Amino acid sequence: MAALFTVLLITAVAFAVQAFQPHPQPCAQCPFDWIGFRGKCYRFSEDESNWTSSHNNCSALGASLAVLDSAEDLSFAMRHIGSSPHWVGLTREGQEHPWQWLNRSPSSHQFQVQGDGPCAYLGDAGLSSSHCSQRRNWVCTKPALQNPSKNFCIST
Ligand SMILES: *[C@@H]1O[C@H](CO)[C@@H](O)[C@H](O)[C@H]1NC(C)=O
Ligand SMILES: *[C@@H]1O[C@H](CO)[C@@H](O)[C@H](O)[C@H]1NC(C)=O
Repeated sequence: MAALFTVLLITAVAFAVQAFQPHPQPCAQCPFDWIGFRGKCYRFSEDESNWTSSHNNCSALGASLAVLDSAEDLSFAMRHIGSSPHWVGLTREGQEHPWQWLNRSPSSHQFQVQGDGPCAYLGDAGLSSSHCSQRRNWVCTKPALQNPSKNFCIST
């Protein structure tokens, strides 16, 4: 009787443990609170800060202020910023200097940047610029994982 009870108890515990096993996650190419789009992961801030501090916040997450070097990237980000202007990773050394994305990528897209400041932000009218000390929301980007490890996820 005691043996039967023990077997039943072990079976019940085994089922209970199995029920609480986490289900395997699909292969994520971006961390769970980031949004994936065309090979990049995006994170839109809730806080506001100046350009440098925004960039430090992105760096602390293994990312940079957003590099939006295609028309598709730009319009994707514009759909997500709502009505708040967001700092992006685009600067210039002075008004006579060209705009440069943080990854130095030669952009295939010809951008119009309004305003005459050295730091660029994305607003509902597209890219604009101002003093870098303004406090704004910001967008970080980092490259999406190309080949998530098969040991840690299942394909969907
Ligand atoms: C991130 O931004 C906040 C302001 O929103 C600032 O207080 C904090 O120091 C920043 N963190 C880093 C790592 O720069
Ligand atoms: C940017 O913000 C940080 C944190 O709030 C502050 O320490 C720093 O002095 C600011 N820099 C500029 C140029 O405003």
